[in-house]
Amino acid sequence: MSRVVLISGSLRRGSVNSAALRAVRRIVESAPGAPEVISLPIGRLPFYDGDVERSGAATAVQAARALVADADALVISTPSYNGAVPGVLKNALDWLSRPDGASPLAGRVVAVLSASPSGRGAIDAQPALMDLLDACEAVVVEHPPVAIRRADRRLDAAGEMSDPEVLAALRGLVDATFEAVAILAGQRRSALA
Ligand code: FNR
Repeated sequence: MSRVVLISGSLRRGSVNSAALRAVRRIVESAPGAPEVISLPIGRLPFYDGDVERSGAATAVQAARALVADADALVISTPSYNGAVPGVLKNALDWLSRPDGASPLAGRVVAVLSASPSGRGAIDAQPALMDLLDACEAVVVEHPPVAIRRADRRLDAAGEMSDPEVLAALRGLVDATFEAVAILAGQRRSALA
């Protein structure tokens, strides 16, 4: 595992999903081999437009595609907006699902979590996100759902996710992600042999 890309479904500065991903970053960076961790700022992507795509796509889109194409795995954390993912996340996944037949998401390992101040931890957004990732032919990490409930109460004074229960769940998800990457790499090696 050499590179992990993080995507937060929330643009808010005080986002609990972004805080969860900062905790994921610390966990990944402390793993053996210290994989590189890069956050993908999806708020800079334009709205998907087929005309923009045909004319060569925006620089931000090209950079996002290149980042994902070079990643061993993605970790996405989403809030629930009315039971689904925020439009900004759907837009990013739509761009990353292109070009048809050469999407950087196809065959990419993706781990999913959600966080919310509510008692459900935005778990209701996870099926929609899984369906989107399936449609993009991503390899979704198999793991019991990680949905951080009452996430605003799990932050420390510095706004970081420091709750031991949350950190343990995130560690489990990161371990499962590393394992999925290793299994996929083994399968690809066997297919080439
Ligand atoms: C929400 N929120 C929300 N929460 C929830 O538990 N179920 C829901 O269906 C919704 N729907 C919803 C729609 C819209 C348009 C907004 C703006 C918000 C609340 C949402 O989960 C909350 O704002 C989270 O804090 C967002 O996560 P971040 O920004 O802290 O990462």
